[in-house]
Amino acid sequence: MKRTGNTTTVRPPSKAKATAPTFDVERVRADFPILSTTSHGRPLVYLDNGATTQKPRAVIDRITRYYERENANIHRGVYELSQKATAAYDETREKIARFINAAEAREIIYVRGTTEGINLVASSFGALAVGKDDEIIVSAEEHHSDIVPWQMLAQRVGAHLRVIPVNDAGELLLDEYERLLSPRTKIVAVTHVSNALGTINDVKEISRLAHRAGAKVLVDGAQWVAHFPTDVREIDCDFYVFSGHKLYGPTGIGVLYGKRALLEAMPPYMGGGDMIESVTFEKTTYAPLPSKFEAGTPDIAGVVGLGAAIDYVQSVGFEHFMPHEHELLEYATKRLGEIAGLRIVGTAKHKAGVISFVLENPPLSTLDVGMALDRVGICVRTGHHCCQPLMDRYGIGSTVRATFSMYNTRAEVDALASALKEIRSSAAPTKSVTQTEIAFPKAAGASPDAVADELAELFEFLGDSAARNQQLLDFGNDLPPYFDQLKKLAPRLSGCMSQVYLIARPAPDDAARVEFVADADAHIVRGEIAMLQRLFSGQRAADILNFDVDRFFKRVGLEQFLSVQRRSGLGSMITRIRAAATTVAGKQQS
Ligand SMILES: Cc1ncc(COP(=O)(O)O)c(C=O)c1O
Repeated sequence: MKRTGNTTTVRPPSKAKATAPTFDVERVRADFPILSTTSHGRPLVYLDNGATTQKPRAVIDRITRYYERENANIHRGVYELSQKATAAYDETREKIARFINAAEAREIIYVRGTTEGINLVASSFGALAVGKDDEIIVSAEEHHSDIVPWQMLAQRVGAHLRVIPVNDAGELLLDEYERLLSPRTKIVAVTHVSNALGTINDVKEISRLAHRAGAKVLVDGAQWVAHFPTDVREIDCDFYVFSGHKLYGPTGIGVLYGKRALLEAMPPYMGGGDMIESVTFEKTTYAPLPSKFEAGTPDIAGVVGLGAAIDYVQSVGFEHFMPHEHELLEYATKRLGEIAGLRIVGTAKHKAGVISFVLENPPLSTLDVGMALDRVGICVRTGHHCCQPLMDRYGIGSTVRATFSMYNTRAEVDALASALKEIRSSAAPTKSVTQTEIAFPKAAGASPDAVADELAELFEFLGDSAARNQQLLDFGNDLPPYFDQLKKLAPRLSGCMSQVYLIARPAPDDAARVEFVADADAHIVRGEIAMLQRLFSGQRAADILNFDVDRFFKRVGLEQFLSVQRRSGLGSMITRIRAAATTVAGKQQS
Protein backbone atom coordinates (compact mmCIF):
# COMPACT_ATOMS: atom_id res chain seq x y z
CA MET A 1 0.00 0.00 0.00
CA LYS A 2 1.48 3.27 -1.09
CA ARG A 3 1.16 6.90 -0.08
CA THR A 4 0.55 8.95 -3.18
CA GLY A 5 1.73 12.49 -2.59
CA ASN A 6 -0.29 14.01 0.18
CA THR A 7 -3.38 11.97 -0.63
CA THR A 8 -4.49 8.61 0.50
CA THR A 9 -5.82 6.07 -1.90
CA VAL A 10 -4.73 2.55 -2.28
CA ARG A 11 -4.19 0.30 -5.20
CA PRO A 12 -6.62 -2.62 -5.30
CA PRO A 13 -4.87 -5.93 -4.68
CA SER A 14 -2.46 -6.43 -7.56
CA LYS A 15 -4.40 -9.29 -9.15
CA ALA A 16 -6.96 -6.71 -10.25
CA LYS A 17 -4.55 -5.61 -12.92
CA ALA A 18 -4.11 -9.04 -14.40
CA THR A 19 -6.33 -10.27 -17.20
CA ALA A 20 -8.87 -12.94 -16.39
CA PRO A 21 -9.17 -15.30 -19.31
CA THR A 22 -11.08 -17.80 -17.22
CA PHE A 23 -13.89 -15.50 -16.16
CA ASP A 24 -17.15 -16.41 -17.83
CA VAL A 25 -19.59 -13.61 -17.06
CA GLU A 26 -22.50 -15.34 -18.78
CA ARG A 27 -22.10 -18.32 -16.50
CA VAL A 28 -22.16 -16.04 -13.49
CA ARG A 29 -25.22 -14.21 -14.82
CA ALA A 30 -27.06 -17.52 -15.13
CA ASP A 31 -26.74 -17.87 -11.34
CA PHE A 32 -28.85 -14.74 -10.76
CA PRO A 33 -32.53 -15.33 -11.65
CA ILE A 34 -33.41 -11.64 -11.63
CA LEU A 35 -30.94 -10.85 -14.40
CA SER A 36 -33.10 -12.60 -16.97
CA THR A 37 -36.16 -10.47 -16.14
CA THR A 38 -37.22 -7.29 -17.89
CA SER A 39 -37.99 -3.78 -16.79
CA HIS A 40 -40.41 -1.64 -18.81
CA GLY A 41 -40.31 -4.43 -21.38
CA ARG A 42 -36.53 -4.15 -21.84
CA PRO A 43 -33.82 -6.50 -20.57
CA LEU A 44 -32.90 -5.48 -17.05
CA VAL A 45 -29.59 -3.63 -16.86
CA TYR A 46 -28.81 -3.49 -13.17
CA LEU A 47 -26.15 -0.90 -12.38
CA ASP A 48 -27.10 -0.04 -8.81
CA ASN A 49 -24.93 -2.58 -7.05
CA GLY A 50 -23.62 0.03 -4.64
CA ALA A 51 -27.14 0.29 -3.24
CA THR A 52 -27.64 -3.46 -3.08
CA THR A 53 -26.52 -6.46 -5.10
CA GLN A 54 -28.77 -9.07 -6.68
CA LYS A 55 -28.93 -12.52 -5.12
CA PRO A 56 -27.68 -15.74 -6.66
CA ARG A 57 -29.87 -18.83 -6.73
CA ALA A 58 -27.56 -20.42 -4.13
CA VAL A 59 -28.50 -17.75 -1.56
CA ILE A 60 -32.20 -17.81 -2.38
CA ASP A 61 -32.27 -21.62 -2.15
CA ARG A 62 -30.31 -21.66 1.09
CA ILE A 63 -32.79 -19.32 2.78
CA THR A 64 -35.68 -21.41 1.48
CA ARG A 65 -34.04 -24.61 2.74
CA TYR A 66 -33.50 -23.01 6.13
CA TYR A 67 -37.19 -22.19 6.46
CA GLU A 68 -38.31 -25.51 4.97
CA ARG A 69 -36.07 -27.79 7.00
CA GLU A 70 -34.13 -26.07 9.77
CA ASN A 71 -36.19 -23.25 11.24
CA ALA A 72 -36.13 -23.01 15.04
CA ASN A 73 -34.89 -20.47 17.53
CA ILE A 74 -31.20 -20.73 18.31
CA HIS A 75 -29.39 -21.33 21.60
CA ARG A 76 -32.69 -22.18 23.27
CA GLY A 77 -33.95 -25.62 22.33
CA VAL A 78 -32.66 -28.96 23.48
CA TYR A 79 -34.25 -30.56 20.45
CA GLU A 80 -32.50 -31.49 17.22
CA LEU A 81 -34.10 -28.79 15.05
CA SER A 82 -32.95 -25.99 17.33
CA GLN A 83 -29.49 -27.49 17.41
CA LYS A 84 -29.41 -27.56 13.61
CA ALA A 85 -30.37 -23.89 13.42
CA THR A 86 -27.82 -23.04 16.11
CA ALA A 87 -25.10 -24.91 14.26
CA ALA A 88 -25.87 -23.12 10.99
CA TYR A 89 -25.82 -19.78 12.81
CA ASP A 90 -22.57 -20.39 14.65
CA GLU A 91 -20.78 -22.01 11.73
CA THR A 92 -21.46 -18.92 9.63
CA ARG A 93 -19.65 -16.86 12.25
CA GLU A 94 -16.57 -19.01 11.75
CA LYS A 95 -16.93 -18.61 7.99
CA ILE A 96 -17.14 -14.82 8.25
CA ALA A 97 -14.13 -14.72 10.54
CA ARG A 98 -12.12 -16.61 7.90
CA PHE A 99 -13.55 -14.44 5.11
CA ILE A 100 -12.20 -11.24 6.64
CA ASN A 101 -9.25 -12.90 8.42
CA ALA A 102 -10.38 -12.09 11.97
CA ALA A 103 -8.36 -13.80 14.69
CA GLU A 104 -11.40 -15.44 16.30
CA ALA A 105 -15.08 -16.05 15.56
CA ARG A 106 -16.14 -14.24 18.74
CA GLU A 107 -14.85 -11.03 17.20
CA ILE A 108 -17.72 -11.25 14.71
CA ILE A 109 -20.94 -9.62 15.89
CA TYR A 110 -24.11 -9.97 13.86
CA VAL A 111 -25.91 -6.69 13.30
CA ARG A 112 -28.59 -5.55 10.85
CA GLY A 113 -26.09 -3.88 8.56
CA THR A 114 -23.32 -1.31 8.31
CA THR A 115 -25.50 1.39 9.83
CA GLU A 116 -26.30 -0.62 12.93
CA GLY A 117 -22.68 -1.69 13.29
CA ILE A 118 -21.50 1.91 13.35
CA ASN A 119 -24.25 2.93 15.73
CA LEU A 120 -23.27 0.09 18.04
CA VAL A 121 -19.65 1.25 18.12
CA ALA A 122 -20.54 4.94 18.45
CA SER A 123 -22.80 4.14 21.36
CA SER A 124 -20.81 1.47 23.17
CA PHE A 125 -17.21 2.49 22.43
CA GLY A 126 -18.43 6.08 22.85
CA ALA A 127 -19.59 5.27 26.38
CA LEU A 128 -16.29 3.58 27.12
CA ALA A 129 -13.82 6.06 25.70
CA VAL A 130 -15.21 9.35 24.38
CA GLY A 131 -15.79 12.30 26.67
CA LYS A 132 -16.02 16.06 26.76
CA ASP A 133 -13.69 17.86 24.34
CA ASP A 134 -12.45 14.61 22.86
CA GLU A 135 -12.30 14.40 19.09
CA ILE A 136 -13.74 12.03 16.52
CA ILE A 137 -12.31 12.08 13.00
CA VAL A 138 -14.37 11.13 9.96
CA SER A 139 -13.64 11.81 6.32
CA ALA A 140 -15.38 14.09 3.83
CA GLU A 141 -16.31 10.98 1.86
CA GLU A 142 -18.41 9.35 4.56
CA HIS A 143 -21.89 8.02 4.05
CA HIS A 144 -24.41 9.60 6.42
CA SER A 145 -24.30 6.30 8.34
CA ASP A 146 -20.71 7.09 9.25
CA ILE A 147 -21.36 10.72 10.14
CA VAL A 148 -24.63 10.96 12.02
CA PRO A 149 -23.94 8.33 14.75
CA TRP A 150 -20.67 10.15 15.56
CA GLN A 151 -22.39 13.51 15.51
CA MET A 152 -25.01 12.16 17.92
CA LEU A 153 -22.25 10.86 20.19
CA ALA A 154 -20.39 14.17 20.01
CA GLN A 155 -23.53 16.08 20.94
CA ARG A 156 -24.27 13.71 23.81
CA VAL A 157 -20.84 13.94 25.46
CA GLY A 158 -19.59 17.32 24.29
CA ALA A 159 -16.96 15.91 21.91
CA HIS A 160 -16.03 17.40 18.52
CA LEU A 161 -16.16 16.05 14.98
CA ARG A 162 -13.14 16.68 12.73
CA VAL A 163 -13.16 15.99 9.00
CA ILE A 164 -10.40 14.74 6.68
CA PRO A 165 -10.75 16.80 3.50
CA VAL A 166 -10.68 15.47 -0.09
CA ASN A 167 -9.00 16.86 -3.18
CA ASP A 168 -10.82 17.51 -6.44
CA ALA A 169 -10.26 13.96 -7.63
CA GLY A 170 -11.88 12.55 -4.51
CA GLU A 171 -8.75 11.43 -2.67
CA LEU A 172 -8.38 12.01 1.05
CA LEU A 173 -5.63 14.43 2.05
CA LEU A 174 -3.42 12.41 4.29
CA ASP A 175 -1.22 15.31 5.36
CA GLU A 176 -4.29 17.14 6.58
CA TYR A 177 -5.37 13.99 8.37
CA GLU A 178 -2.04 13.78 10.16
CA ARG A 179 -2.49 17.36 11.31
CA LEU A 180 -5.95 16.57 12.68
CA LEU A 181 -4.71 13.70 14.83
CA SER A 182 -3.94 14.61 18.44
CA PRO A 183 -4.05 13.07 21.91
CA ARG A 184 -7.69 14.19 21.96
CA THR A 185 -8.57 11.95 19.01
CA LYS A 186 -10.39 8.92 20.34
CA ILE A 187 -11.57 7.32 17.13
CA VAL A 188 -11.12 7.68 13.38
CA ALA A 189 -14.02 6.40 11.26
CA VAL A 190 -13.36 6.15 7.57
CA THR A 191 -14.80 4.39 4.56
CA HIS A 192 -12.77 1.76 2.75
CA VAL A 193 -14.39 2.67 -0.60
CA SER A 194 -16.39 5.83 -1.20
CA ASN A 195 -19.91 4.84 -2.27
CA ALA A 196 -20.40 8.13 -4.12
CA LEU A 197 -17.04 8.40 -5.91
CA GLY A 198 -15.50 4.93 -5.83
CA THR A 199 -12.22 6.09 -4.25
CA ILE A 200 -10.33 3.31 -2.51
CA ASN A 201 -8.79 4.66 0.68
CA ASP A 202 -5.55 3.53 2.23
CA VAL A 203 -7.15 2.33 5.43
CA LYS A 204 -4.00 0.54 6.51
CA GLU A 205 -2.04 3.78 6.55
CA ILE A 206 -4.96 5.61 8.15
CA SER A 207 -5.00 2.98 10.91
CA ARG A 208 -1.25 3.18 11.41
CA LEU A 209 -1.36 6.94 11.87
CA ALA A 210 -4.39 6.76 14.16
CA HIS A 211 -2.74 4.17 16.37
CA ARG A 212 0.43 6.25 16.56
CA ALA A 213 -1.74 9.01 17.99
CA GLY A 214 -3.42 6.61 20.41
CA ALA A 215 -6.79 6.56 18.62
CA LYS A 216 -8.92 3.61 17.54
CA VAL A 217 -10.10 3.04 13.98
CA LEU A 218 -13.38 1.98 12.45
CA VAL A 219 -13.46 1.09 8.76
CA ASP A 220 -16.75 1.16 6.87
CA GLY A 221 -16.37 -1.76 4.49
CA ALA A 222 -19.86 -1.54 2.94
CA GLN A 223 -18.51 -0.91 -0.57
CA TRP A 224 -15.38 -3.03 -0.31
CA VAL A 225 -16.22 -6.54 0.84
CA ALA A 226 -18.02 -7.70 -2.31
CA HIS A 227 -15.25 -6.56 -4.60
CA PHE A 228 -11.88 -7.21 -2.96
CA PRO A 229 -10.56 -9.67 -0.35
CA THR A 230 -10.72 -8.28 3.18
CA ASP A 231 -8.00 -8.72 5.77
CA VAL A 232 -8.81 -6.94 9.00
CA ARG A 233 -5.55 -7.99 10.61
CA GLU A 234 -3.51 -6.65 7.71
CA ILE A 235 -5.40 -3.34 7.94
CA ASP A 236 -5.04 -3.52 11.71
CA CYS A 237 -8.30 -1.64 12.22
CA ASP A 238 -10.10 -1.92 15.55
CA PHE A 239 -13.56 -2.23 14.00
CA TYR A 240 -14.74 -3.19 10.53
CA VAL A 241 -18.40 -3.09 9.44
CA PHE A 242 -20.30 -4.27 6.38
CA SER A 243 -23.77 -5.21 5.15
CA GLY A 244 -24.76 -8.63 3.82
CA HIS A 245 -27.03 -7.23 1.13
CA LYS A 246 -24.17 -5.54 -0.72
CA LEU A 247 -22.33 -8.88 -0.72
CA TYR A 248 -24.98 -10.87 -2.64
CA GLY A 249 -26.63 -11.80 0.67
CA PRO A 250 -29.99 -10.89 2.18
CA THR A 251 -31.03 -7.54 3.61
CA GLY A 252 -31.29 -7.13 7.37
CA ILE A 253 -28.00 -8.80 8.23
CA GLY A 254 -24.54 -7.33 8.57
CA VAL A 255 -21.31 -7.75 10.44
CA LEU A 256 -19.37 -5.81 13.00
CA TYR A 257 -15.83 -7.04 13.52
CA GLY A 258 -14.03 -5.74 16.58
CA LYS A 259 -10.77 -6.63 18.25
CA ARG A 260 -11.58 -8.94 21.12
CA ALA A 261 -10.03 -6.92 23.97
CA LEU A 262 -11.90 -3.85 22.88
CA LEU A 263 -15.25 -5.60 22.48
CA GLU A 264 -14.77 -7.17 25.90
CA ALA A 265 -14.16 -3.79 27.48
CA MET A 266 -17.16 -2.16 25.82
CA PRO A 267 -20.58 -2.10 27.52
CA PRO A 268 -23.52 -3.88 25.84
CA TYR A 269 -25.48 -1.94 23.25
CA MET A 270 -28.93 -3.43 23.77
CA GLY A 271 -30.30 -5.42 26.68
CA GLY A 272 -32.52 -8.46 26.40
CA GLY A 273 -32.49 -12.21 25.86
CA ASP A 274 -29.34 -14.09 24.88
CA MET A 275 -26.94 -11.33 25.95
CA ILE A 276 -27.08 -12.18 29.66
CA GLU A 277 -25.34 -14.59 31.94
CA SER A 278 -27.73 -14.10 34.87
CA VAL A 279 -30.49 -11.69 35.75
CA THR A 280 -31.93 -10.66 39.09
CA PHE A 281 -33.89 -7.54 39.81
CA GLU A 282 -30.84 -6.19 41.56
CA LYS A 283 -28.20 -6.96 38.95
CA THR A 284 -27.52 -8.49 35.55
CA THR A 285 -24.27 -10.01 34.43
CA TYR A 286 -23.57 -10.21 30.75
CA ALA A 287 -22.77 -13.11 28.49
CA PRO A 288 -19.30 -13.33 26.98
CA LEU A 289 -18.60 -12.36 23.38
CA PRO A 290 -20.20 -12.45 20.92
CA SER A 291 -23.57 -12.92 22.70
CA LYS A 292 -23.06 -9.77 24.79
CA PHE A 293 -23.85 -7.73 21.69
CA GLU A 294 -26.61 -9.91 20.26
CA ALA A 295 -29.73 -9.28 22.32
CA GLY A 296 -32.98 -10.87 21.21
CA THR A 297 -33.78 -13.38 18.50
CA PRO A 298 -31.48 -12.52 15.60
CA ASP A 299 -32.04 -12.76 11.85
CA ILE A 300 -31.10 -16.44 11.70
CA ALA A 301 -32.20 -16.90 8.09
CA GLY A 302 -30.24 -13.77 7.20
CA VAL A 303 -27.10 -15.19 8.81
CA VAL A 304 -27.52 -18.47 6.97
CA GLY A 305 -28.13 -16.60 3.71
CA LEU A 306 -25.04 -14.47 4.27
CA GLY A 307 -23.01 -17.64 4.78
CA ALA A 308 -24.27 -18.93 1.42
CA ALA A 309 -23.37 -15.60 -0.20
CA ILE A 310 -19.81 -15.86 1.08
CA ASP A 311 -19.58 -19.42 -0.24
CA TYR A 312 -20.85 -18.18 -3.58
CA VAL A 313 -18.38 -15.29 -3.82
CA GLN A 314 -15.53 -17.62 -2.95
CA SER A 315 -16.68 -20.21 -5.46
CA VAL A 316 -16.53 -17.61 -8.24
CA GLY A 317 -13.25 -16.36 -6.82
CA PHE A 318 -12.00 -12.82 -6.22
CA GLU A 319 -9.07 -13.57 -8.49
CA HIS A 320 -11.54 -14.06 -11.34
CA PHE A 321 -14.09 -11.30 -10.89
CA MET A 322 -11.79 -8.53 -9.62
CA PRO A 323 -10.07 -8.07 -12.98
CA HIS A 324 -13.46 -8.23 -14.69
CA GLU A 325 -14.91 -5.46 -12.51
CA HIS A 326 -11.79 -3.39 -12.97
CA GLU A 327 -11.99 -3.76 -16.72
CA LEU A 328 -15.65 -2.69 -16.64
CA LEU A 329 -14.70 0.42 -14.70
CA GLU A 330 -12.01 1.32 -17.22
CA TYR A 331 -14.29 0.65 -20.16
CA ALA A 332 -17.16 2.66 -18.65
CA THR A 333 -14.81 5.53 -17.81
CA LYS A 334 -13.73 5.60 -21.44
CA ARG A 335 -17.23 5.27 -22.94
CA LEU A 336 -18.84 7.83 -20.65
CA GLY A 337 -15.84 10.11 -21.00
CA GLU A 338 -16.58 10.29 -24.72
CA ILE A 339 -20.02 11.81 -24.15
CA ALA A 340 -19.87 15.56 -24.64
CA GLY A 341 -21.19 17.53 -21.69
CA LEU A 342 -20.80 14.61 -19.27
CA ARG A 343 -18.45 15.10 -16.33
CA ILE A 344 -17.28 12.24 -14.16
CA VAL A 345 -17.20 13.19 -10.50
CA GLY A 346 -14.52 11.23 -8.66
CA THR A 347 -11.39 10.52 -10.63
CA ALA A 348 -9.13 9.08 -7.95
CA LYS A 349 -6.20 7.05 -9.16
CA HIS A 350 -7.46 3.96 -7.40
CA LYS A 351 -11.14 3.30 -7.69
CA ALA A 352 -13.62 0.49 -7.25
CA GLY A 353 -16.36 -0.02 -9.85
CA VAL A 354 -18.26 3.21 -9.25
CA ILE A 355 -18.87 5.96 -11.81
CA SER A 356 -20.62 9.11 -10.66
CA PHE A 357 -21.38 11.76 -13.22
CA VAL A 358 -23.39 14.84 -14.09
CA LEU A 359 -24.60 16.06 -17.48
CA GLU A 360 -23.74 19.71 -17.69
CA ASN A 361 -24.05 20.72 -21.29
CA PRO A 362 -26.94 20.91 -21.83
CA PRO A 363 -27.62 20.83 -18.09
CA LEU A 364 -29.83 17.86 -17.26
CA SER A 365 -31.02 17.11 -13.77
CA THR A 366 -29.79 13.81 -12.38
CA LEU A 367 -33.36 12.87 -11.55
CA ASP A 368 -34.48 13.33 -15.15
CA VAL A 369 -31.52 11.29 -16.36
CA GLY A 370 -32.25 8.50 -13.89
CA MET A 371 -35.91 8.38 -14.90
CA ALA A 372 -35.06 8.38 -18.60
CA LEU A 373 -32.62 5.50 -18.05
CA ASP A 374 -35.29 3.63 -16.12
CA ARG A 375 -37.62 3.84 -19.11
CA VAL A 376 -35.12 1.76 -21.10
CA GLY A 377 -34.58 -0.77 -18.34
CA ILE A 378 -31.36 0.68 -16.87
CA CYS A 379 -31.21 0.94 -13.08
CA VAL A 380 -28.82 3.56 -11.71
CA ARG A 381 -28.89 5.61 -8.56
CA THR A 382 -29.45 9.34 -8.64
CA GLY A 383 -29.17 11.77 -5.77
CA HIS A 384 -26.67 12.61 -3.08
CA HIS A 385 -26.02 8.93 -2.26
CA CYS A 386 -26.35 9.72 1.45
CA CYS A 387 -23.21 11.85 1.15
CA GLN A 388 -24.56 15.40 1.32
CA PRO A 389 -21.37 16.92 2.75
CA LEU A 390 -19.39 15.36 -0.10
CA MET A 391 -21.80 16.73 -2.70
CA ASP A 392 -21.45 20.15 -1.05
CA ARG A 393 -17.67 19.82 -1.34
CA TYR A 394 -18.06 19.56 -5.11
CA GLY A 395 -20.76 22.21 -5.31
CA ILE A 396 -23.36 19.82 -6.69
CA GLY A 397 -26.61 18.51 -5.23
CA SER A 398 -26.44 15.08 -6.74
CA THR A 399 -24.93 12.77 -9.33
CA VAL A 400 -26.03 9.85 -11.45
CA ARG A 401 -24.15 6.80 -10.24
CA ALA A 402 -23.52 3.49 -11.97
CA THR A 403 -21.95 0.77 -9.82
CA PHE A 404 -20.66 -2.51 -11.19
CA SER A 405 -20.46 -5.98 -9.83
CA MET A 406 -19.25 -9.36 -11.02
CA TYR A 407 -22.29 -9.99 -13.25
CA ASN A 408 -22.20 -6.78 -15.26
CA THR A 409 -21.03 -6.77 -18.85
CA ARG A 410 -19.45 -4.53 -21.44
CA ALA A 411 -22.73 -4.72 -23.35
CA GLU A 412 -24.47 -3.16 -20.37
CA VAL A 413 -21.92 -0.36 -20.31
CA ASP A 414 -22.61 0.14 -24.03
CA ALA A 415 -26.35 0.25 -23.30
CA LEU A 416 -25.77 2.90 -20.65
CA ALA A 417 -23.54 4.98 -22.91
CA SER A 418 -25.95 4.90 -25.86
CA ALA A 419 -28.94 5.67 -23.66
CA LEU A 420 -27.09 8.67 -22.23
CA LYS A 421 -26.21 9.91 -25.69
CA GLU A 422 -29.83 9.58 -26.70
CA ILE A 423 -31.07 11.36 -23.56
CA ARG A 424 -28.61 14.14 -24.18
CA SER A 425 -29.48 14.64 -27.82
CA SER A 426 -33.24 14.53 -27.25
CA ALA A 427 -33.14 16.85 -24.23
CA ALA A 428 -35.70 19.62 -24.57
CA PRO A 429 -33.87 22.93 -24.91
CA THR A 430 -34.34 25.03 -21.81
CA LYS A 431 -36.87 27.76 -22.42
CA SER A 432 -35.46 31.21 -22.52
CA VAL A 433 -36.80 33.42 -19.81
CA THR A 434 -39.04 36.02 -21.33
CA GLN A 435 -40.97 36.98 -18.23
CA THR A 436 -39.61 39.84 -16.26
CA GLU A 437 -42.34 39.84 -13.68
CA ILE A 438 -43.31 36.76 -11.77
CA ALA A 439 -47.02 35.93 -12.10
CA PHE A 440 -48.57 34.07 -9.18
CA PRO A 441 -51.30 31.74 -10.50
CA LYS A 442 -54.89 32.30 -9.36
CA ALA A 443 -57.15 29.41 -8.34
CA ALA A 444 -57.65 26.83 -11.09
CA GLY A 445 -61.06 25.81 -9.67
CA ALA A 446 -63.53 26.41 -6.88
CA SER A 447 -61.47 24.39 -4.37
CA PRO A 448 -58.54 21.93 -4.29
CA ASP A 449 -61.13 19.13 -4.20
CA ALA A 450 -62.89 20.42 -7.31
CA VAL A 451 -59.53 20.66 -9.18
CA ALA A 452 -58.57 17.21 -7.91
CA ASP A 453 -61.75 15.75 -9.42
CA GLU A 454 -60.91 17.22 -12.81
CA LEU A 455 -57.32 16.02 -12.67
CA ALA A 456 -58.41 12.55 -11.55
CA GLU A 457 -60.75 12.36 -14.53
CA LEU A 458 -57.95 13.35 -16.91
CA PHE A 459 -55.48 10.85 -15.45
CA GLU A 460 -58.06 8.04 -15.45
CA PHE A 461 -58.63 8.72 -19.11
CA LEU A 462 -54.90 8.51 -19.80
CA GLY A 463 -54.66 4.96 -18.50
CA ASP A 464 -51.19 3.51 -17.99
CA SER A 465 -48.45 4.93 -15.83
CA ALA A 466 -46.21 5.89 -18.77
CA ALA A 467 -48.98 8.12 -20.18
CA ARG A 468 -49.59 9.61 -16.74
CA ASN A 469 -45.91 10.37 -16.23
CA GLN A 470 -45.81 11.96 -19.68
CA GLN A 471 -48.77 14.13 -18.74
CA LEU A 472 -46.92 15.29 -15.66
CA LEU A 473 -43.88 16.14 -17.81
CA ASP A 474 -46.17 18.03 -20.20
CA PHE A 475 -47.56 20.04 -17.29
CA GLY A 476 -43.96 20.82 -16.39
CA ASN A 477 -43.17 21.99 -19.91
CA ASP A 478 -45.93 24.58 -19.61
CA LEU A 479 -44.66 25.90 -16.29
CA PRO A 480 -43.26 29.42 -16.73
CA PRO A 481 -39.46 29.27 -16.35
CA TYR A 482 -38.66 31.35 -13.30
CA PHE A 483 -35.68 29.33 -12.18
CA ASP A 484 -33.01 32.00 -12.45
CA GLN A 485 -35.24 34.70 -10.96
CA LEU A 486 -36.44 32.59 -8.04
CA LYS A 487 -32.90 31.47 -7.33
CA LYS A 488 -32.05 35.08 -6.55
CA LEU A 489 -35.15 35.65 -4.45
CA ALA A 490 -35.59 32.51 -2.37
CA PRO A 491 -33.31 30.07 -0.56
CA ARG A 492 -33.08 26.62 -2.08
CA LEU A 493 -35.79 24.39 -0.64
CA SER A 494 -34.11 21.97 1.73
CA GLY A 495 -34.86 18.27 1.64
CA CYS A 496 -34.96 18.11 -2.17
CA MET A 497 -32.32 16.37 -4.22
CA SER A 498 -33.19 18.63 -7.14
CA GLN A 499 -32.76 22.35 -6.91
CA VAL A 500 -36.16 23.75 -6.05
CA TYR A 501 -37.03 27.39 -5.34
CA LEU A 502 -40.47 28.32 -4.09
CA ILE A 503 -42.12 31.52 -2.96
CA ALA A 504 -45.54 31.44 -1.29
CA ARG A 505 -47.52 34.44 -0.10
CA PRO A 506 -51.03 35.48 0.96
CA ALA A 507 -52.97 36.51 -2.16
CA PRO A 508 -52.86 40.33 -2.38
CA ASP A 509 -56.58 40.52 -3.26
CA ASP A 510 -57.82 38.01 -0.65
CA ALA A 511 -55.78 37.48 2.51
CA ALA A 512 -57.51 34.15 3.24
CA ARG A 513 -55.90 32.62 0.15
CA VAL A 514 -52.37 31.42 -0.57
CA GLU A 515 -50.59 31.65 -3.89
CA PHE A 516 -47.18 30.43 -4.88
CA VAL A 517 -44.65 30.12 -7.65
CA ALA A 518 -41.82 27.62 -7.88
CA ASP A 519 -39.31 26.21 -10.31
CA ALA A 520 -36.80 23.37 -10.33
CA ASP A 521 -33.94 22.02 -12.40
CA ALA A 522 -35.62 18.62 -13.03
CA HIS A 523 -38.38 18.24 -15.58
CA ILE A 524 -40.34 15.83 -13.48
CA VAL A 525 -40.19 18.11 -10.45
CA ARG A 526 -41.42 20.98 -12.66
CA GLY A 527 -44.36 18.71 -13.50
CA GLU A 528 -45.04 18.18 -9.83
CA ILE A 529 -44.88 21.94 -9.27
CA ALA A 530 -47.38 22.53 -12.08
CA MET A 531 -49.69 19.92 -10.56
CA LEU A 532 -49.42 21.44 -7.08
CA GLN A 533 -50.05 24.89 -8.51
CA ARG A 534 -53.24 23.69 -10.16
CA LEU A 535 -54.33 22.17 -6.88
CA PHE A 536 -53.34 24.88 -4.44
CA SER A 537 -52.25 28.22 -5.81
CA GLY A 538 -54.91 30.84 -5.20
CA GLN A 539 -56.95 28.52 -2.95
CA ARG A 540 -58.23 29.25 0.53
CA ALA A 541 -55.66 28.37 3.21
CA ALA A 542 -58.19 26.33 5.15
CA ASP A 543 -59.03 24.24 2.07
CA ILE A 544 -55.34 23.62 1.38
CA LEU A 545 -54.84 22.39 4.93
CA ASN A 546 -57.84 20.07 4.70
CA PHE A 547 -56.77 18.51 1.41
CA ASP A 548 -55.37 14.95 1.52
CA VAL A 549 -52.43 15.04 -0.92
CA ASP A 550 -51.40 11.40 -0.44
CA ARG A 551 -54.90 10.25 -1.32
CA PHE A 552 -54.88 12.50 -4.37
CA PHE A 553 -51.60 11.12 -5.74
CA LYS A 554 -52.88 7.57 -5.26
CA ARG A 555 -56.14 8.50 -6.94
CA VAL A 556 -54.44 9.88 -10.05
CA GLY A 557 -52.19 6.82 -10.23
CA LEU A 558 -48.95 8.68 -9.53
CA GLU A 559 -48.38 7.08 -6.17
CA GLN A 560 -44.80 6.20 -7.07
CA PHE A 561 -44.09 9.90 -6.66
CA LEU A 562 -45.07 9.62 -3.03
CA SER A 563 -42.29 7.17 -2.30
CA VAL A 564 -39.60 7.83 -4.89
CA GLN A 565 -40.04 11.52 -5.29
CA ARG A 566 -40.95 12.54 -1.81
CA ARG A 567 -37.31 13.17 -1.09
CA SER A 568 -36.80 14.79 -4.44
CA GLY A 569 -38.95 17.75 -3.81
CA LEU A 570 -42.61 16.84 -3.63
CA GLY A 571 -42.73 16.33 0.13
CA SER A 572 -40.68 19.44 0.83
CA MET A 573 -42.82 21.54 -1.50
CA ILE A 574 -46.02 20.34 0.12
CA THR A 575 -44.59 21.04 3.57
CA ARG A 576 -43.64 24.54 2.45
CA ILE A 577 -47.06 25.25 0.92
CA ARG A 578 -48.86 23.92 3.98
CA ALA A 579 -46.63 26.05 6.22
CA ALA A 580 -47.68 29.12 4.24
CA ALA A 581 -51.33 28.04 4.50
CA THR A 582 -50.96 27.55 8.26
CA THR A 583 -49.58 31.07 8.65
CA VAL A 584 -52.37 32.54 6.54
CA ALA A 585 -55.06 30.54 8.37
CA GLY A 586 -53.58 31.60 11.72
CA LYS A 587 -53.72 35.28 10.74
CA GLN A 588 -57.33 34.86 9.70
CA GLN A 589 -58.24 33.51 13.12
CA SER A 590 -56.35 36.09 15.16
C1 LIG B 1 -20.15 3.40 2.36
C2 LIG B 1 -21.47 3.03 2.96
N1 LIG B 1 -21.62 3.05 4.28
C3 LIG B 1 -22.76 2.71 4.88
C4 LIG B 1 -23.86 2.33 4.14
C5 LIG B 1 -25.12 1.95 4.84
O1 LIG B 1 -25.38 0.59 4.65
P1 LIG B 1 -26.72 -0.07 5.19
O2 LIG B 1 -27.83 0.79 4.69
O3 LIG B 1 -26.72 -1.44 4.61
O4 LIG B 1 -26.65 -0.07 6.68
C6 LIG B 1 -23.77 2.31 2.75
C7 LIG B 1 -24.94 2.00 1.94
O5 LIG B 1 -25.10 2.43 0.83
C8 LIG B 1 -22.54 2.67 2.14
O6 LIG B 1 -22.41 2.66 0.82
